[in-house]
Amino acid sequence: MIIAVLKEVKNGENRVAVTPDTASSFKGWGFNVKVEKGAGLQAGFDDEAYLKAGAEVVSSAAEACKNADYLLKIWAPQPEEDKHLKPQMTVIANFQALTERPRLEKFAKLGLTCFALDLMPRISRAQSMDILSSQSNLAGYKAVINAVEALDKAVPMMMTAAGTVAPAKVLVLGAGVAGLQAIATAKRLGAQVYASDVRPQVKEQGESLGGRFVEVKTDENFETAGGYAKETSDEYRKKQQEAVAEQLRKTDIAVTTALIPGKPAPRLITKQMIEAMPRGAVIIDMAAEAGGNVEGSQSGKTVTIGGVKVIGNSNLASELPNSASRLFAQNIFNFLTPMYNPQTQEIVFNFNDELIKGTCVCKDGELTGAVK
Ligand code: NAI
Repeated sequence: MIIAVLKEVKNGENRVAVTPDTASSFKGWGFNVKVEKGAGLQAGFDDEAYLKAGAEVVSSAAEACKNADYLLKIWAPQPEEDKHLKPQMTVIANFQALTERPRLEKFAKLGLTCFALDLMPRISRAQSMDILSSQSNLAGYKAVINAVEALDKAVPMMMTAAGTVAPAKVLVLGAGVAGLQAIATAKRLGAQVYASDVRPQVKEQGESLGGRFVEVKTDENFETAGGYAKETSDEYRKKQQEAVAEQLRKTDIAVTTALIPGKPAPRLITKQMIEAMPRGAVIIDMAAEAGGNVEGSQSGKTVTIGGVKVIGNSNLASELPNSASRLFAQNIFNFLTPMYNPQTQEIVFNFNDELIKGTCVCKDGELTGAVK
C-alpha cells in the first residue's frame, strides 16, 4: 500500500496531514509513504525528518500520487490538484462536505473513495479522530493570543507604584470547543472573562473555566440531538443582541466562534454594537469564512470600525502548524487504526461502522448516504 502526502495548496495553508511520527507508524504497518518535497517544511518537519522516519521524499505531487492507494490531506484536493487523482484512490481530508457539494460530485465522478473527517460523528469513540475538535482547540487558544497582541492594553491586573491597571475584559461568544479554549486562555492571561452560548448546557463548562455566563432567558431549545446548535428564533436573537450589546460596551476583546453546521454563521455583533465598544478594542471573528458572526468582518483581513480592530480569521490552526499538524495527523492515524488488518497489512473499511458510514462521502462513482 502506498500513501501520498502533498504540500497543501489551499490559501497558504501551513499544516501537513502526515508528520514524521505518523509516517513512521504507517511504515510499521508495512506501507510506503511518499512525501512531496517540502510538504512539511512550514510545519517544522523537513524532508530529512521524513527520510529518517522511513518515508520516501519525491520531487513533485504527481510523483507522490503515482500508484498511490491513499491520499491523506488537510483540505480536500483543490481544482489544480485534480490532475493527480486516480480512480482507485482513497482520499481522507477535511472536505467541508456540508458546503462543497459540487466538489464532492466531481470526486465521485472521478471514481474516488472519500472520507470527510469533518463529518465525524460526535460520539466518545470518535473523540481521538475528531479533526474539528483538535483544530478548534488550538484555534481558540490562538484567537486570544492574536487578540492580545493587537490590543493596546495589558491584559492582567497590574498593581504598580504609579497606579493600578485594571484587567482587560474578554467576551467569548459561542462556547464550543474553540470558545472553551478561548475562555481558558484568556483566564490564564489574567483577563476578566465573560461568555455566552445558545446551548444553556455549556454554562457550567464555561464557568468551571472561570468565565461568567451572559445569560439569555428562554424556554426554547436550540440544541440538536447531535449536540450542535440550531438557528435561533427572531425573538431569541433580539434578546441575545441586547444582552451582548450591553456587555460589549465594556469589552476589550471579543472572540466569536458561533457556527451552525451547513448554515451561514449567525450574526451576533452589528456595526452599531462595534461602534459602542471602547476605542482600541479588538474582535476576532473565527466564523468569518462561514459568513461571519460580526458585521463587516472579512475573512483573512483586519478592518477598523469605529476605532475597533475586527480581525476575520477562520483558519487559526494553520498559524500553529506544528502542533496542529501533529494532532491532525494523529486523528487520521487513529481513524485508520481500527480498519488495519496486520495479517494482510491492508486497510479494510467496514461500511457498517457508524464512523465509516458517517464520514464516507463518495464511493463507486456515487455520493453516499452521508451527503446524499
Ligand atoms: P461549533 O463549532 O459547531 O459551534 C461553536 C459554538 O457556537 C457552539 O457551542 C454553539 O452552540 C455556539 N452557537 C451557535 N449558534 C450560536 C448563537 N446564535 N449564539 C451563541 N452561540 C452559538 O461547535 P463545536 O465546538 O464543534 O461543538 C459542538 C458540540 O459537539 C458540543 O456539544 C461539543 O461538546 C460536542 N463535541 C463532541 C465531541 C465528541 O464526543 N466526539 C467532540 C467535540 C465536540
